[in-house]
Amino acid sequence: MHQLIAEMTLEEKAGLVSGAAFWSTRPVERLSIPAVTMTDGPHGVRMQRQSADHLGLNASEPATCFPTASSTGSTWNPELLAEMGEALAHESRALGVDILLGPGVNIKRSPLCGRNFEYFSEDPFHAGVMGAAFVRGVQSQGVGTSLKHFAANNQETDRMRIDAQVDERTLREIYFPAFERIIREAAPTTVMCSYNKVNGLHASQNSWLLTDMLRKEWGFNGYVVSDWGAVGDPVAAVAAGLDLEMPSTGDRSVNAIIEAVNSGVLDESLLDLAVSRILTVHENLLSTRTSAPVVDFDAHHALAGRIAAEGTVLLSNEGHLLPLSAAEGDTIAVIGEFARTPRYQGAGSSHVNPTRLDDALTAIQAATTRTVEFAAGFTFDGDRNEQLHAEAIALAARSSVVVMFLGLPPQNESEGFDRSHILLPETQRNLLDAIARVNRNIVVILSNGGAVSLQGIIGTAPSILEMWLGGQASGTAAADLIFGTAQPGGRLAETIPHSLAQTPAFVNWPGENGVVRYGEGLYVGYRWYDHTEQDVAFPFGYGLSYTTFNCISMTVTVPDNTKAQASVEISVTNAGNRAGAEVVQVYVTDNEASVSRPRRELKGFTKVWLEPGEVKNLLVELDERAFAFWGTAGWTVEPGTFTIHAGPNSRDLPLAEVLTLNVPQQSTILDTESTLQEWASHPAGLTVLKQAMIRMGQSADALTNEESLPIFGSMPLRTILGFAQQANAVEFDVDEALANLLSAVESA
Ligand code: BGC
Repeated sequence: MHQLIAEMTLEEKAGLVSGAAFWSTRPVERLSIPAVTMTDGPHGVRMQRQSADHLGLNASEPATCFPTASSTGSTWNPELLAEMGEALAHESRALGVDILLGPGVNIKRSPLCGRNFEYFSEDPFHAGVMGAAFVRGVQSQGVGTSLKHFAANNQETDRMRIDAQVDERTLREIYFPAFERIIREAAPTTVMCSYNKVNGLHASQNSWLLTDMLRKEWGFNGYVVSDWGAVGDPVAAVAAGLDLEMPSTGDRSVNAIIEAVNSGVLDESLLDLAVSRILTVHENLLSTRTSAPVVDFDAHHALAGRIAAEGTVLLSNEGHLLPLSAAEGDTIAVIGEFARTPRYQGAGSSHVNPTRLDDALTAIQAATTRTVEFAAGFTFDGDRNEQLHAEAIALAARSSVVVMFLGLPPQNESEGFDRSHILLPETQRNLLDAIARVNRNIVVILSNGGAVSLQGIIGTAPSILEMWLGGQASGTAAADLIFGTAQPGGRLAETIPHSLAQTPAFVNWPGENGVVRYGEGLYVGYRWYDHTEQDVAFPFGYGLSYTTFNCISMTVTVPDNTKAQASVEISVTNAGNRAGAEVVQVYVTDNEASVSRPRRELKGFTKVWLEPGEVKNLLVELDERAFAFWGTAGWTVEPGTFTIHAGPNSRDLPLAEVLTLNVPQQSTILDTESTLQEWASHPAGLTVLKQAMIRMGQSADALTNEESLPIFGSMPLRTILGFAQQANAVEFDVDEALANLLSAVESA
């Protein structure tokens, strides 16, 4: 590699770190360095042969449109994600794509984010596990991935320049962990930096993000590619640790880099570093290549359908209305344009040209011998149409059951902009009300990328299935779920709130004057609703099934309680009479934290398939990070008790066990600003302080006894020394005395 770089001219090196075109890197033919092709991603291959664009507007080659991340995240099934990743890689290979631009693992900070359909979760542990599986699957077939968008890209409003102001602890505990886990566990070939600024600096020019975090702390050894058009200053970007600017800017960036190296502004070794990272990744990818596979599109379509069913969350099923009998019963009314014209993917760069498209109406008709009649009820764009409205009500009145396909019209959510509300179109809500007056047997099937308010639907429709944007086979999956040939296997990866006003980022969204403050800090998603003790429509982790499960017992084993590590064994059974899958979730509470911590946080989960009556024992391992918070001295586990909770969702955790960790107490580092309380709780600090008091002829505990500590505790020691000097008219230099005390602590 070094030899190859040494043979490259400055022009060739500058050319390599700046794309050749929209989707490819520059080849260096004389040195046999090939061009590499990348394309979106994440849930289908969007390979464009003609006019290129990154907004999903121009045509692309047919490829399987798998369910979007809102659906795949809801499967809570990493193995399935890995399988999807393998299928995506086969299609990538067949279309000549070397790197697929995904997964997207940004946290769903607000349901309003227009791109939530491309992200897995409101929880970083969950997003990390799912994303790692995706990367493993794709890369196992010799295709690269791009973990995106790093970092704090949680909204579309002003996304190219908004300054996300987020404190370090929140970044470390909420917005970074998915990236960190995936880098450590699955080694993605590339990471894509985001457009936005993070604490004042564009991500593409942010060396703390691109060099300190990614490489030095997490050991990332792939290369960083810019989001398309995210680079303002290509020289500053290379200096910060960005390796490849995409797409090409013609000669502009290349010339700027050449000039910067020639004038000494950019150290050529930094350019060499970027070149070597790019070449290493490309060489590894190309060397593992066998011939392109023949793609089994039928199998991929079936897989897309299986994932869509597993990602569907059964939110409510009063009176066991679902599943419907396919053989017996009167007319089934299928209502809603989305039954005929599916909403199955989102708009923007992830837009896929599907190989085929199943609609639910045809699939339902094919799956039953019952009479199925259809009424559109409203237009695809969500507009009210009196005739459609009336026809739908009439059909509902003469049918035995109504299956209503509701959801967000396509113009409501997309990459590039955020929603301004979380309501379904009024027309749809009115239609549901009107239908409920003539027929109470209503199944609502929802298609939406981001969470919607279900007020007016809960309690009106006995059965609600949230299908998200379920990909090209979601129509068939819907029919399978309706008639029970598939089980709704999904659990919510995002809380469904009652209203927008109760959501965590509400008062800070979407920022103003170019700045968005993450004022809610750590309290995102369920962490917020739990901390503020709010009722929600459906909690994180929630989802019903056509059967019922019981978490029977839990055993927590701590092999050595001076270390933060535990094994959790849970026994679960299927108490119903149908087979199905349960997701057993493990949450950890720090009972005695010295800092504000969420009430409980997801730290492990397992999905398990159970036949009726079957019992299985599951094992969830908790590592040190499961107990830690980001403190002033880095990742910190404090000694004390922790509660391990297990159960089917974040608000239904029937099993709980308390464990005690006797890990060493990490003492705070004392400095010139430290308070008396901090000195008193520092083992060496207290001794040094007491000795000094005795030397001054004072009682050793005059300041640190139970009476005085609450009063003086929050004062910096420097201030107290100053008071002492004044009160006793003692001649000493306060700063010098403090420095002596600090050095005594250091050498203690
Ligand atoms: C998106 C990325 C995408 C890129 C290339 C950008 O607009 O933010 O997610 O990979 O375009 O299409």
